[in-house]
Amino acid sequence: MSATPERLDRLIAALDPDEAGDIGEPIREAVRAVPRHLFIPPVGLVVEEEGAPYLIDRDADPGTWWDTVYSRSIIVTQLNDGATELRGLRGDSTSSASAPSTVADLLNHLQPGPGHRILEVGTGTGWTAALLSHLVGDHGEVTSVEVDPQVAGQAAKNLAAAGVRARLLVGDGALGCSDGEPYDRVHVTCGVRDIPYAWVEQCRPGGVIVLPWHPGYGTSHALRLEVQEDGTAVGRVVGYAGYMMMRSQRPEAGEEPPPGQERRHYRSALDPRALDQLGAGVDLAIGALTGLRSHTSEGADEDGPYVRTWVSDPDDTRSWAVVTWRPGSADHGVQQVGERPVWDEVLRAYARWVSWGEPHWQRYGITVAPGGQSIWLDTPERVLSSAGACTDQHTCHG
Ligand SMILES: C[S@@+](CC[C@H](N)C(=O)[O-])C[C@H]1O[C@@H](n2cnc3c(N)ncnc32)[C@H](O)[C@@H]1O
Repeated sequence: MSATPERLDRLIAALDPDEAGDIGEPIREAVRAVPRHLFIPPVGLVVEEEGAPYLIDRDADPGTWWDTVYSRSIIVTQLNDGATELRGLRGDSTSSASAPSTVADLLNHLQPGPGHRILEVGTGTGWTAALLSHLVGDHGEVTSVEVDPQVAGQAAKNLAAAGVRARLLVGDGALGCSDGEPYDRVHVTCGVRDIPYAWVEQCRPGGVIVLPWHPGYGTSHALRLEVQEDGTAVGRVVGYAGYMMMRSQRPEAGEEPPPGQERRHYRSALDPRALDQLGAGVDLAIGALTGLRSHTSEGADEDGPYVRTWVSDPDDTRSWAVVTWRPGSADHGVQQVGERPVWDEVLRAYARWVSWGEPHWQRYGITVAPGGQSIWLDTPERVLSSAGACTDQHTCHG
């Protein structure tokens, strides 16, 4: 069975997200040529921003399955590294067929071309590897690395069913694949906080690396780096990209860090939700200046509805804060724990971002060198933090 022309048209229409502009004809053509349904399992889990997750089942309800496969939906194919059945509906999503618009957007930043040698990290279903193979043509080569043997095994079957020739490897993609370098392009489809230097080393000067960058504070970003003659890679934030984290860089789970710590309670005048509404520029500044990570949760308890912003030190889970917003309240409860006054640091970083003129996300970039990565504003010389978190104001040149 194949997709109806109407379904294929719907998928093509879903490729251009509103703000990202035109993804270009070669990518559209690749999506037409590579049947997405060959990469989706008979039972998949659809997880959307709003509403409860639901299953699509090709045998039980073929109409919904086909409509969803040829839509903008992310289809989760694995939960909890395979420890939980999809039919259980709950768990951490650990492999998926990514949203077609995100796939197209990242490919557009990558600009793969005929004859290119490409390294993909995070094979997943194999759909992106198949699109890449189509884009590089018969004279190019795609090498794709997947950490999960079961996922890789299914991807190999999917690619074979689609008649696609790609080199698949099971292993830690953080190491890249030295057998096959130098690559013209490195395409990463799992989220990373710290960019492995191996990707820079294995990509030729002038080559391009595109990756979903999850620094941890606030939202995540699409990053496009170009490899330089001096062995560094330099580039900018080019948009939004939310992906599942690379296994070795996943944050530790759990909201409530170890009990028994002394808690400092006070009230904060800043509405924590306001920070979320200021855009990715403030997230980038806070992340670069503090190295902290955050997440938000919504709920209700005996005092009514709340929105909580959690801030923590990824290298010391004993330092954290939670700020609680309640409707109608003029100030907001802060509980701060541990040696680092993390919420105070967030407020200071926010004030510095304001003092710089509230730079937009397009003004941030990153340099990856053998010794680590540095985040900068406007030009690589204006470094905000180097090789991880910068907590010393004297070394942050804002
Ligand atoms: C969002 S999926 C990739 C989607 C995929 N490109 C596609 O087209 O279906 C992310 C994948 O990255 C894999 N992954 C996570 N950590 C990895 C690592 N260290 N090395 C290689 N793959 C990894 C996950 O197992 C998962 O299959």
